Amino acid sequence: MIKALGAAIFYARFARPFSRLGFRRRVGEAPLQADFSGQRWLVTGATGGIGRAIALGAVARGATVVAFARDGGKLADLVMAAQGPGRIVPAVVDLSLMQDVRRAAAEVAREGALDVLVHNVGVMCHDFARTAEGVERGLATNLLGHWVLDRALRAGGAMTASTAIVSMSSGGMYGAALDLAALEAPAAARHDGFLAYAQHKRAQVALTHYWNREGPGAPRAWVMHPGWVDTDGVRTALPGFRKLFRAVLRNADEGADTALWLAATRPAAGEGIWLDRHRDDEHAFGFTRQGADAEALVAWLEQRVPGAGGRRG
Ligand SMILES: NC(=O)c1ccc[n+]([C@@H]2O[C@H](COP(=O)([O-])OP(=O)(O)OC[C@H]3O[C@@H](n4cnc5c(N)ncnc54)[C@H](OP(=O)(O)O)[C@@H]3O)[C@@H](O)[C@H]2O)c1
Repeated sequence: MIKALGAAIFYARFARPFSRLGFRRRVGEAPLQADFSGQRWLVTGATGGIGRAIALGAVARGATVVAFARDGGKLADLVMAAQGPGRIVPAVVDLSLMQDVRRAAAEVAREGALDVLVHNVGVMCHDFARTAEGVERGLATNLLGHWVLDRALRAGGAMTASTAIVSMSSGGMYGAALDLAALEAPAAARHDGFLAYAQHKRAQVALTHYWNREGPGAPRAWVMHPGWVDTDGVRTALPGFRKLFRAVLRNADEGADTALWLAATRPAAGEGIWLDRHRDDEHAFGFTRQGADAEALVAWLEQRVPGAGGRRG
């Protein structure tokens, strides 16, 4: 009953801005003026949905995009779909496996610095499963993978003060105060994929603050919400939601627009989450201000990372 009431309040508040209507109101037909010639990008989850649209949008404007995803066939399709002047460099990587992330990050770093890093991968896992490294799959994919990728790229010299980081959060985070104990359920019986996803997405906002406080020489970071976009991820994880809102869901290009815009315009970094080229408040309900802070999150991530002396599940 309380959950249903919460959902009703959430949808009443956000159905308009997060739908295609919100995109039309704030962005409309305004073309994205951007030239990424000579830039080197890395986009995670680049073969489907929003990540694919970001990768293709960057290539069309001149960037070389290192595309991370698990399926080699889909990566080959992406290479074929890319319309220059830039190009796609495909890389088979599973973001949920830290060993794989470290390997891939080292390969990327060997080729030089990145201009733009888009932490796009995100999954809502209703079933509880652990990766081969013992981490709940959603946590590993949505958060640990990004954290390890970031650290490994920095250690390898691929991130400089001119690198822009864009993290793909979600409006789902508006319903969550950051609770470290809720980032990963201890067992299947305590797992709620929807709530875990909201926590991971709230944590991405906190991580962005942390990155922006890392001082001179560090990249600048922005966190964004794509709106509600009709993708395979939504089709599989939220079929009921999709049925209800299908007529007003955005297309992938609309979901990708703000990532490309942030990379092109690089507005002053600070509090807030970006949607449709505008900075919105990162809290919509007072209770979410009471959560854990970014430093506590980072300490938690450090001890949870497999293979870095952290605990194993
Ligand atoms: N769609 C929405 O309405 C919406 C709303 C709010 C936020 N978001 C966020 O936007 C981002 C993109 O969402 P989407 O809907 O476009 O997702 P999607 O349709 O599910 O696409 C996911 C992409 O990530 C890749 N991927 C999945 N797991 C991976 C892993 N372990 N390692 C490497 N690549 C992996 C997939 O390729 P492979 O399967 O080949 O690996 C695919 O390219 C996510 O962070 C999501 O949370 C989406």
